[in-house]
Amino acid sequence: MNFLIPGENMKVKFKKALVTGGAGFIGSHLVEALLAVGCQVVVLDNLSSGNLLNLKPLRDHIELYEDDIRQLNDVERALQGCDVVFHLAAVVAVQQTIDTPLDSAMVNDIGTVNVLEAARKMKVRRVVLASSCAVYGDDPRLPKEESMTPMPASPYAVHKLSAEHYLRVYGELFGLETASLRFFNVFGPRQDPSSPYSGVISIFMNKAVSNQVPVIYGDGSQSRDFVYVKDVVKALLLTANARNLKGKSFNIGTGNQVQINRLWELIASIGGRQVEPEYQAARAGDILHSVGNIDMAKSLLNFNTDFSLEQGLELTFEWYREQIEEVGSGNAEVGTGNEIKKQTKLKL
Ligand code: NAD
Ligand code: UD1
Repeated sequence: MNFLIPGENMKVKFKKALVTGGAGFIGSHLVEALLAVGCQVVVLDNLSSGNLLNLKPLRDHIELYEDDIRQLNDVERALQGCDVVFHLAAVVAVQQTIDTPLDSAMVNDIGTVNVLEAARKMKVRRVVLASSCAVYGDDPRLPKEESMTPMPASPYAVHKLSAEHYLRVYGELFGLETASLRFFNVFGPRQDPSSPYSGVISIFMNKAVSNQVPVIYGDGSQSRDFVYVKDVVKALLLTANARNLKGKSFNIGTGNQVQINRLWELIASIGGRQVEPEYQAARAGDILHSVGNIDMAKSLLNFNTDFSLEQGLELTFEWYREQIEEVGSGNAEVGTGNEIKKQTKLKL
């Protein structure tokens, strides 16, 4: 097991990879891992929610296109000579897909077809999609299994489900090797805490490092399957290496449920300060519990997580703390992701 770079000792069966969304949270960790396994890496990102600072230490080792997946020509140019595409670029904020359904469909739907079309034309061997557990929607059955009929409850979830189908169909019609990974709640360094709808761990980390009071919506007994970003990256590498996946979709999580109350206790204790959370009304439409059955990924991809929740939280806390310390404001409110980003700028 390696705590720094997932898959470092993995022998990958591809030489050059395109990462769409490579300047984002998960994408930048993937780029780092691909370089570590000796792969050439191309990044295509329009920086709408990503940040070049995420790639700063890697900048000289990658081919970077500040382009848009909505433009077929842009995707074709970036794909030259690649044998694998990791398709992560998307409008990821669920609320944004509700507020601007047409614009976000242009990215999440048409952008995905562009990636597949370019891959077909350029004779790329394999496409791996970042999908989401959001495709299961409000189905109360647990754990979520891939055999369940998806019930998307937002445009975002519809886009992800449709993208999964496009991948499968491109495999059947054109012989592209494809697979989709349904990530559960991913967390880790570089996750942007700027919006109220940012991942709960990024928000709680932000509060913990600045000694602020977090808000828990509802009674905090709701639970999620939190998976550390480097385990997600390992799953992406394993998928790109696997054979005969035939457009399948896989759950990628830990298989463990963690209550939000417990999550805050853990983060507060890592920070060494017991701060009582403030409780507010449950969010409209909040799913009570979510956890994935990851047996299929275990058996077909040989996937297993390397990081316990506690290990992942410690590494993540360390990163957020460094952002604060760098500007010498250990007790100040960090507040927004933009401030985190500004601080990251200062640091890098
Ligand atoms: P992120 O916002 O950090 O990354 C998305 C990246 O895509 C950004 O760098 C953004 O600039 C880029 N992008 C957006 N539109 C683009 C366009 N038109 N052209 C080119 N680039 C564009 O988010 P993330 O959390 O790293 O998510 C990565 C992928 O994983 C997304 O597809 C997301 O839906 C999926 N996912 C994430 C989670 C999670 O918990 N973070 C859970 C399930 C699925
Ligand atoms: C996640 C995804 C969302 C997807 C959904 C599908 C993220 C950021 N969101 O939402 O895109 O549609 O899975 O299953 O990955 N909470 C607090 N306090 C806070 C913030 C959140 O108590 O300050 C609570 C929320 O009410 C929720 C839980 O923490 O109960 C998790 O919230 P969040 O991280 O936003 O993720 P999901 O709701 O699971």
